Amino acid sequence: MTDLTIPSTPTRFEPPADLAASANVTAEAYARAESDADGFWAEQAERLTWAEPFTQVLDWSDAPRARWFVDGKLNAAYNCVDRHVEAGRGDKVAFHFVGEPGDTRDITYAELKDDVSRAANALTSLGVGSGDLVAIYLPMIPEAIVAMLACARIGATHTVVFGGFSAEALASRIEDCRAKLVITSDGGYRRGAPSPLKPAVDAALSRLGGQSPVDHVLVVRRTGEYVPFDDATDLWWHDVVGSASPEHTPEAFDAEHPLYVMYSSGTTGKPKGILHTTGGYLTGAAYTHHAVFDLKPDTDVYWCTADIGWVTGHSYIVYGPLANGVTQVLYEGTPDSPHRGRWWEIIERYGVTLFYTAPTAIRTFMKWGREIPDTYDLSSLRLLGSVGEPINPEAYLWYRSVIGGDRCPVVDTWWQTETGQMMISPLPGVTAGKPGSAMRPLPGIGADVVDEEGRSVPNGSRGYLVLTKPWPAMLRTLWQDDERFVETYWTRFADLGYYFAGDGAKKDEDGDIWILGRVDDVMNVSGHRLSTSEIESALVSHPRVAEAAVVGAADETTGQAVVAYVILRSGDGNNGEALTQELRSHVAKEIGAIAKPRQITIVPELPKTRSGKIMRRLLRDVAEGRDVGDTTTLSDPSVMALIANRDTESA
Ligand code: PRX
Repeated sequence: MTDLTIPSTPTRFEPPADLAASANVTAEAYARAESDADGFWAEQAERLTWAEPFTQVLDWSDAPRARWFVDGKLNAAYNCVDRHVEAGRGDKVAFHFVGEPGDTRDITYAELKDDVSRAANALTSLGVGSGDLVAIYLPMIPEAIVAMLACARIGATHTVVFGGFSAEALASRIEDCRAKLVITSDGGYRRGAPSPLKPAVDAALSRLGGQSPVDHVLVVRRTGEYVPFDDATDLWWHDVVGSASPEHTPEAFDAEHPLYVMYSSGTTGKPKGILHTTGGYLTGAAYTHHAVFDLKPDTDVYWCTADIGWVTGHSYIVYGPLANGVTQVLYEGTPDSPHRGRWWEIIERYGVTLFYTAPTAIRTFMKWGREIPDTYDLSSLRLLGSVGEPINPEAYLWYRSVIGGDRCPVVDTWWQTETGQMMISPLPGVTAGKPGSAMRPLPGIGADVVDEEGRSVPNGSRGYLVLTKPWPAMLRTLWQDDERFVETYWTRFADLGYYFAGDGAKKDEDGDIWILGRVDDVMNVSGHRLSTSEIESALVSHPRVAEAAVVGAADETTGQAVVAYVILRSGDGNNGEALTQELRSHVAKEIGAIAKPRQITIVPELPKTRSGKIMRRLLRDVAEGRDVGDTTTLSDPSVMALIANRDTESA
């Protein structure tokens, strides 16, 4: 786990008086939720519009399989779009879209309703219906959101695959969930140039060959670049969706209807298909968005910089914010295109008030220097959020001071793809935040730090982070792998019924929680979750590699970085720089550029215990430049000296 230095007396920042005075959620919420959890969550569910009311808040009789808002029926897209139009807010901007080349489009809720309805009709005409799976592989363009909502509207389950993932990764996801339709685009803009997407879909489908479950590929035209087209399967979005009727009556689905599957890295090489359903998920996303951002939908302009390919984009660009009817910014590109002030320029231009980003981005901006944001007017901002990885106190203080002008509270929000909603976070009108701490579980949420036996650790101690009670947006299972669902999250502390989060944490002297990072073989690189074994599998799939061990080593900017140690197969060929470059590209091809190792060291042997288990802890010591710890359990302790030597040579 990452070692975060926790100051002995951390600085605290009291909530701004004006924010506290008009805060959406006050301290009473904790007690209210504690004394009557069902009543509390029922109240939060009333933020949504139900076609049929629920008869029970939570059925936990088949734990850990939860049913929330039993018998309730609703349509997620109706809740995110139509009801705002029906309430007379059709002219309100849902999205200020900013394309990377500088093109902009404002989309109102009324326009969004028409677009989603057209897309819903188009999907139906392609034979997609309730219970079908649709893979979405798109850049950050409005059509990505329209596609997700169109699926939700007709009861199809979407699985959004991050555009940075490779054809191989896309193929395995399509195969695992048996997607009938893929929605993609010719490409998107990245760093000032068109970056193609459709060819990866073609490669994925040809890899699947006769096993491919896909009937059609719907292609959005974004860059206008040439794309090969197969008339048997491929269709242009502007033809099929463009010609469809904007009239569509949404059908109500059961609260437990599968809304989406999001693949995420676990401790084995095979990504897990995390399943979220409708009523509880939408309640959890909408409530936390309202509470943690102190959202005032009539005046706030909100911007979350995540990609919709990750859960943050699902919960805090699409479902939570749209259910709450806010105006937001949607930006296609990178923070440095065409210049390093791009984000601040966007905040100034649209008067963004609530801003949500990741520590990795903040650390990058710190490196670029405060002179850049200082040239923009950021005075519209009133609250800043952080997500995805531990935020070190220095980055927190810089964010608060340079971006937030020392007036905006920073909310450090801990949650996961599995939790669907924020779980541990300050409440901006209540909590005196400490830089580096996610603080306390939100109202209605039970979280604790426990020892090996599941006993709550005393203040000042470290342990495992657990969630002690069910919550509405919790994952329901792993797609077609219920056994792995129980095994991964619910077995470690089965007697206590705790959910095992996979993170280490510390309670400070006041009992506030500091997240220390993963305790399993999952890495966090720039807030992206990667599995060591998935990258190891990618490396050993290269013909020159016999064995590989991957560790996440601390990195100043990206939080952790991928560092790989490989043993080559005997035989000739280049063993030097050219080969390590080739291996890095091979990983990018197998998984995606985000998984490329920062460093690959070729070693003669890997440190293993007598039972043959690789001791990654020792490799991490080497990768982070520390003296190697206790090696007595190694079958051959001299191995570490050889590895350490190679490491200095390759550095
Ligand atoms: O290790 C924790 C880290 O990110 C993991 C979850 O990753 P993912 O499912 O990809 O979701 C990321 C966006 C919610 C967690 O197990 N993590 C997330 N937020 C924080 C964090 N670590 C520390 N502080 C956070 N605020």
